[in-house]
Amino acid sequence: MQQRGQWSSKLGFILAASGSAIGLGNIWRFPYVTGANGGGAFVFLYILCVLILAFPVMITELVIGRTAAKNPVGAFHDLAPRSVWWLVGGLGVLTGFAILSYYSVIAGWTLSYILKAATGALHAGKGAEEIFNSFAADGVSQVVYLFLFMALTVYVVAGGVRNGIEKAARILLPVLFVLMLCIIGYVLTLPQAMDGVKFYLYPDFSKVTATTVMMAMGQAFFSLSLGMGAMITYGSYIRKTDNLFTSGLSVTFFDTFIALMAGMMIFPVLGGAPKKGGPSLIFEVLVDVFQTMPMGQVLALVFFILLAIAALTSTVSLLEVISAYLIDEKGVSRKKAVASLGIITAVLGIPSALSLGSVDLLTRWNVLGRVDFVFGNLSLTIGGFLMCLFVAYKWGLKAFMAAISEGSHMHESSVFRVWYGVSVYLVCPVCMAGMILYILITGNTLG
Ligand code: TRP
Repeated sequence: MQQRGQWSSKLGFILAASGSAIGLGNIWRFPYVTGANGGGAFVFLYILCVLILAFPVMITELVIGRTAAKNPVGAFHDLAPRSVWWLVGGLGVLTGFAILSYYSVIAGWTLSYILKAATGALHAGKGAEEIFNSFAADGVSQVVYLFLFMALTVYVVAGGVRNGIEKAARILLPVLFVLMLCIIGYVLTLPQAMDGVKFYLYPDFSKVTATTVMMAMGQAFFSLSLGMGAMITYGSYIRKTDNLFTSGLSVTFFDTFIALMAGMMIFPVLGGAPKKGGPSLIFEVLVDVFQTMPMGQVLALVFFILLAIAALTSTVSLLEVISAYLIDEKGVSRKKAVASLGIITAVLGIPSALSLGSVDLLTRWNVLGRVDFVFGNLSLTIGGFLMCLFVAYKWGLKAFMAAISEGSHMHESSVFRVWYGVSVYLVCPVCMAGMILYILITGNTLG
């Protein structure tokens, strides 16, 4: 077998993992899910879910990944031989396929918007909504951009871990951060800005329902790339001398910060709850902003390029997981694995691509929305739930502590031991099981 790649440094891992975590989930999904679920109270619940539920799962995945140094399926095979725990990895690979398929559709939109910004089509007198609707209804474009984006992803992943993934993330994050600050600075000067900020940050708990909690939990997993083994795979390239706890903490912090900033770009423009939510939200709101903002045309171009790169570092992580499985377990060469899986996933994405207005039946079924819910919420929560059970009841807290002790002194801190133990034995499994049962019993597949 070929030698496994490794990140060049701790910072290399943090950048690459942040690249996986930060993407359309933060900038496209977070604002529209927040808007659809009542604003401030959702944001509050989201932060709570990140801290209490997602962060322990993040540490769990990184530790499992580094210890086994394998893809998710191989990792469970190694740590729990002759058992069915590998199915958790199997579910992860399946989930990765599904998420990548529709995620690439939205990622394709960013390419189209780059083109529209570059050619001046965003500033040609048409309103943002009109631009979006005619694009969404054009099935051929939807599919073409889906395949185009997949081709980019395949190209990066084929280059291997360090060359491809780390490099892209290194440039992206600082530039994205600065540009988002500029946009926030501008939208805060709009007359309706403060009403929007109030909706976004002032929690009105009377609006909270079980659905709100469920969406917040799913969003936390999705945004941090948890529950399907992406962090197991990225963790498998971490060196034994790196501190997993602080690495995981940094990624969690950056990701959450960028999501909160994305909300600050959108809600001041809306001035309250969005009238028409849905997946088009940021593409319409931001184009509105760019149409009036000074230097809007240039900023639109730069913004969509950055958004495309942010999406790319995420699709790369999804494709990396499913490819790592074929490469490690089936001995397929990297190039072959990546190319064939890329094509299969893009084909699987076609129904989602056509469900945004171009094909009536698929649009009515809301294929993209449903696949997003079932795989991007439910399946990730189930995955996270099972991983906690794995550490608590199969692998054991002792083995976990021994594994995390490489590169850190966390195992010596009793606060850490108690916190982690209570999380994986009690808090995470109970909350996640509650949510999973709620979804299965109510049959609520779309919030
Ligand atoms: N977290 C990414 C985002 O916010 C999407 C993503 C990449 C993902 N890899 C994942 C989500 C693995 C779930 C699981 O855009």
